[in-house]
Amino acid sequence: METNSQTTTVSMPRIGDKAPAFKAVTTQGEIIFPEQYSGSWVILFSHPADFTPVCTSEFMTFASMEDQFAKANCKLVGLSVDGLYSHIAWLRTIKEKIEYKGMKNVEVTFPLIEDITMEVAKTYGMIQPGESSTKAVRAVFVIDPKGIIRTIIYYPLSLGRNFHELYRVLIGLQTADAFNVATPADWEPGDDVIVPTAGSCGTAKERMENKKDMKCYDWFFCTRKIDKQTVLGTLLKK
Ligand code: BEZ
Repeated sequence: METNSQTTTVSMPRIGDKAPAFKAVTTQGEIIFPEQYSGSWVILFSHPADFTPVCTSEFMTFASMEDQFAKANCKLVGLSVDGLYSHIAWLRTIKEKIEYKGMKNVEVTFPLIEDITMEVAKTYGMIQPGESSTKAVRAVFVIDPKGIIRTIIYYPLSLGRNFHELYRVLIGLQTADAFNVATPADWEPGDDVIVPTAGSCGTAKERMENKKDMKCYDWFFCTRKIDKQTVLGTLLKK
């Protein structure tokens, strides 16, 4: 970290970087990150504070979707700068007392990291002083089975995350990897996908003359169909 009287420059991991390694105490015991998650996708996410309403709604939603993420070979790991006993007390309160949008008795079984020193939060750029210097923002890191950061999303303190979007991001990344395609705006499984752009004049010409199973809007923008069953059948555990 570089500092002068005017500015503070904090280095943060970027998309394509190896996820910074750390050991941490969590509500599920110690974890060694990302080593212990090798072979799985992981969503590492931070929240500002235990016993707060937006965070509670988020944890209940994420915990309710844990099986859905697990079917896509994805594990969840949460973090805040609160201590372990606060985490435990908050998760017990959620399970025992909170009923929200039809969710009740929600048990959070994924690890929640205690990060009182803010060491992990600072390493991952989760502390954004303009928003808060004492709480992590709502950061989301989607990390692939090789430990590479594939997506980073930040939300401010006041805005609860869209968990359908986080699942869509995961499935979109996995689809891109499995089928060597890209996904257009607002893509959902079953929608057309984008085939890699023609890398030579010959391929561009051939594409426009013989589109095979593609639909080409122009030589650089061709799509093809992959039906929903093929996408989900390939990606999801039975
Ligand atoms: C919340 O989770 O409700 C929250 C936490 C920190 C600041 C603002 C809202």
